[in-house]
Amino acid sequence: MKLKTLLILIMGIIILSCNTDETISPDTQAPTVPTNLTVSNIINVSLDLRWNASTDNIEVTEYEVYQDEVNIGTSKDTTYSVSGLTANTTYSFTVKAKDAAGNISGASNVVNATTTNTNAVQYTLTTNTTGQGTVSEGGIYNSGTPVTVTATPASGWDFSGWSGALSGNTNPTSITMNSDKAVTATFTKAPVTSTSTEKYRLTWRGNTSTTMVVGWNQVRGTNPVVHYGTTDFGSNAGSYPLSKTVDRTVSSKGMNNNYARLTGLQADTAYYFVIKDSEGVSKRFWFKTAPSDPNTRLSIVAGGDSRNNRTPRQNANKLVAKIRPHAVLFGGDMTSSSSSSQWQNWFEDWQLTIGSDGRMIPVVAARGNHEKSNDIRDLFDIPTAAGGEYYALSFGGSLMRTYTLNTEVTPAGTQGTWLANDLTSNSANHTWAVAQYHRATRPHEPGKSEQNDQYEAWSKPFYTHAVQLVMESDSHVVKRTWPIKPSTGSGSDEGFVRVDSDPKRAIYVGEGCWGAPLRNASDTKNWTRAAGSFNQFKWLWIDKNKIELRTIKVDNASSVGQLSDNNLFVLPTNIDIWNPTGGSVVTVDNPH
Ligand SMILES: [Fe+2]
Repeated sequence: MKLKTLLILIMGIIILSCNTDETISPDTQAPTVPTNLTVSNIINVSLDLRWNASTDNIEVTEYEVYQDEVNIGTSKDTTYSVSGLTANTTYSFTVKAKDAAGNISGASNVVNATTTNTNAVQYTLTTNTTGQGTVSEGGIYNSGTPVTVTATPASGWDFSGWSGALSGNTNPTSITMNSDKAVTATFTKAPVTSTSTEKYRLTWRGNTSTTMVVGWNQVRGTNPVVHYGTTDFGSNAGSYPLSKTVDRTVSSKGMNNNYARLTGLQADTAYYFVIKDSEGVSKRFWFKTAPSDPNTRLSIVAGGDSRNNRTPRQNANKLVAKIRPHAVLFGGDMTSSSSSSQWQNWFEDWQLTIGSDGRMIPVVAARGNHEKSNDIRDLFDIPTAAGGEYYALSFGGSLMRTYTLNTEVTPAGTQGTWLANDLTSNSANHTWAVAQYHRATRPHEPGKSEQNDQYEAWSKPFYTHAVQLVMESDSHVVKRTWPIKPSTGSGSDEGFVRVDSDPKRAIYVGEGCWGAPLRNASDTKNWTRAAGSFNQFKWLWIDKNKIELRTIKVDNASSVGQLSDNNLFVLPTNIDIWNPTGGSVVTVDNPH
């Protein structure tokens, strides 16, 4: 066997050698021309050159540097320090790339530079590091020059602050050269991400611009604290200026659900946070508070019913991470039987709404018929008394008020009184009032029963107080209506009549499909605008003039583009928008 292996090896070498002999030919191809030659750090006797690398069919071996067309040296990389210059003199520079066979490229662009006057006062900036990382800049600068220094930690390290001629931890930062200076950047080893916390979620109990509830499952460890602030310090918990201990712990669905209720936040502002406990530090997450200015546009995702089908559920969650709305309104029936394992899977899937940069999206959760009393309260820390689970939140100051109602307790009674009172107090001083709840009042799936109590307790006051948009779930179908109002008069169907120009009319949309068994939308009404059956949620852009609503099909989530935080009011590439008869966009004009 050994002899056979040896023979094969020898044969291989012979074949390889033959091939090499046959294919070898002289390299006559020169490297590409170096580009973007620039000059920096000009003083009286020296300056620095820098350029973009050339490429070659084999390999670029070095660059030749020319000063006034005379070769003054070579560089293996794309920088060169020219020294021995005369003060107050203009020089021109070019570089050429060279390969191993001696082929030389053409000359780069020409840069001219004039050295400074000998009399110029100059100072030296010395940069040092502690730990692993680098600092940009350093060298000789003319007096008065502002120098921007940037500390870049090595992988697995965090930047923790400046010392010497700089202090604090602003990065990058500027230093003015009015004397010789030395700065030190300190890098500390980044803590290993702790797995003692998981299943993170963000919710609101009150003001959406100034508060945020950070919730999670505490798997093990003690004394968890949320460390947060408006500057991103990565996993360096101690650098965050603010901290909050846990306000509420509730054992529910096999999880130790912790809630830290952050208050006193600034509106429309990014906050970065980590959770530190006895075991270590979580990954770094961030969120944005809702705007308080009614002139700021809102992006909202609304849907519900995610109880059985994890694939569409995960796809919808991935899409949330891509379009980064201010909030998700979720209309109930998260799980099938509200068991511990199903809820843990649900929150595991919810983590897909978190961006790759740690961006988290708050959820405004409603109770469905598959949730037991207090499940929503205990898993999302919503602001209700036990058994209530209905609440209202304002977004964008006076721009929008959302009513999250509970179809699993009587729609009238205490809830109906609360709704009527809140609508009376608040609907007129908000541009928009919208509602979300679980069971559709007039379901578009024939097996679902009519909710006449909701019709009386909710649809009628919605009309009285000009609630403009109503988001329903439960039926696992897709629907959008024409503008309608409750009426049994001529032309009405199931107690509603189409009224396009009535300023108090509402559009009803729904009904579920965030990962539940799809059903047949065959129970349409004469005021149904379009109906269907597919996995979807609604995406709303809301400003003072109008609401634009689109129904987003979620199945192709993986191929949809990622929106940038700079512009969240564009359609990402490949997004699949429902386009029924009548068009893809429902526009609700401000009736006020
Ligand atoms: Fe349901």
